[in-house]
Amino acid sequence: EKSIAPYDVIGKQHLEELVDAFYARVAKHPDLIPIFPEDLTETARKQKQFLTQYLGGPPLYTQEHGHPMLRARHLPFEITPTRVNAWLSCMRAAMDKVQLTGNIREFFYSRLELTAHHMMNTPGEQG
Ligand code: HEM
Repeated sequence: EKSIAPYDVIGKQHLEELVDAFYARVAKHPDLIPIFPEDLTETARKQKQFLTQYLGGPPLYTQEHGHPMLRARHLPFEITPTRVNAWLSCMRAAMDKVQLTGNIREFFYSRLELTAHHMMNTPGEQG
């Protein structure tokens, strides 16, 4: 039994456009600039691979990099509540930009919201 994956609904090209629009915003966000590399080419390439498999497409990330262990891979970076909100706001703006709308957007965004909060590893100013 094969069901249609969210990846198939969004499509490869639309997902790639989303990731490019997302990192264009990350590159300019004052809360995110300090922890991201200046050149986001490789970061975007890995994120395209990761989100492909996250949405039920082929396991491109794991094939090249092994188990994602996403929380562990983020531990070197201080991810505060402010940065979680910044990341999610860049994602919403990117979704607007590439016109990812409707149920698929709601589904995708709500999963990203959970994952993003799971990445938090540093308390905010309020402790
Ligand atoms: C890598 C920040 C959430 C997926 C990174 C890197 C940073 C970062 C600084 C390293 C970039 C590099 O050196 O190339 C953040 C912040 C987040 C967040 C501040 C706020 C919550 C997420 C979420 C996902 C994600 C929600 C997935 C849904 C990835 C992936 C990589 C990555 C796949 C590449 C890992 C690798 O090097 O193989 N992130 N991230 N991140 N992030 Fe995030």
